[in-house]
Amino acid sequence: MGMIKTFRSVVQFDSITLDPVERRLKKAACIEDYRKIAKRRLPFGVFDYIDGGAEDERTLASNTATFGDIEFKPRVLRDVSNIDTSTTIFGRPSSMPLILAPTGFTRIAHSQGELAVARAAASFGIPWSLSTMGTRSIEEVAAVSDGEKWFQVYTWKDRGLVKDLIGRAKESGFTAIWLTVDTAVLGRRERDVRRGMTLPPKIGLGTLIDGAIHPSWTLDFLRNDPITFANVVGKNDEDGSTAVSLADHVARQFDQALSWDDIGWLRSVWGGPIVLKGIQTVADAKQAIEAGVEGIGLSNHGGRQLDDAPAPISLVEPVRQEIGDAGTIICDGGVRRGSDIVKALALGADAVSLGRPYFYALAAGGQRGVEHMLDFMRSGLERTMALSGVRSLAEIDRDLVRWKR
Ligand code: GLV
Repeated sequence: MGMIKTFRSVVQFDSITLDPVERRLKKAACIEDYRKIAKRRLPFGVFDYIDGGAEDERTLASNTATFGDIEFKPRVLRDVSNIDTSTTIFGRPSSMPLILAPTGFTRIAHSQGELAVARAAASFGIPWSLSTMGTRSIEEVAAVSDGEKWFQVYTWKDRGLVKDLIGRAKESGFTAIWLTVDTAVLGRRERDVRRGMTLPPKIGLGTLIDGAIHPSWTLDFLRNDPITFANVVGKNDEDGSTAVSLADHVARQFDQALSWDDIGWLRSVWGGPIVLKGIQTVADAKQAIEAGVEGIGLSNHGGRQLDDAPAPISLVEPVRQEIGDAGTIICDGGVRRGSDIVKALALGADAVSLGRPYFYALAAGGQRGVEHMLDFMRSGLERTMALSGVRSLAEIDRDLVRWKR
């Protein structure tokens, strides 16, 4: 009896969490943990589509690794009892300098798909982006989110379709456009080649076995609305109602002739801010500003397009030096922690964006997963600011960091 009493007094029993989503999320301490959960839960082909990059995946790896080449010059004794992460992006308030990037086929991770991500972003007061290749329509997401919404366009050969999409986005209260400029053709994602990955995923013999090993994903997939390219349903002969390989789809539908001349056309159909997503050199950043766009999206599409493209974080400072105050710089690629946001801002970015981390978190726990991930990013940003001695984003300057080599 005495022994049990002693045992009770020294061992604090953790309460048992019955809710499976909560149980999973409780154990996730960083983005890599959401990734591991996603890997366990998703069919192999689906996980590899999300997780994979082009060719030897060197750019995929260096996007993240390059953040590790930067170290802080932290200041102490600065009264960091109040930390303010708020900012404005294109004149509109955001609770932190973080934008959720557009991702294609979001519902393959979880049936809640874009609706969950848009709701989570709105509840955190940050912008979220819908992809042309999204699996919920402009109107469906607008109906559930009054948060800041950006729309991403690929230029279909059919410009009438693009114009129509932009008109609908305007009508639904979207406030900025990303024009993706790094996808004239699709990068060679060799994991998808090996798996014979199609969108939507085909139910063949291989996928049946894969599906049986991942029953919760399979049930979720079979029980919910079929996954389509929701924005182009009925307007295009490839609207996701039949399985296509993404590379073939891009080759058939996207305009390989897209050029600087088209920026004027985009400007004529959209009056708000335009961000070119996929700028990878100082020269193109300069040309983008000369072409009259408001935003430079330094991005290599998460290492999914040209392998051995430069890590976006390495371009932030030279691009800022070249364009001065002439444009908003968004660094996209490899952002995995709040400290990465501080590094990007110190080098001259206005904001960062990320895609895979919320995709993993969505797979791990739907909307709650995405909120858990955003909470991780917010607390990481606040903690990094406190530990490096800055109280507001305005206090983050070039002196806060140095390249290790
Ligand atoms: C789509 O944009 C993709 O990268 O798969």
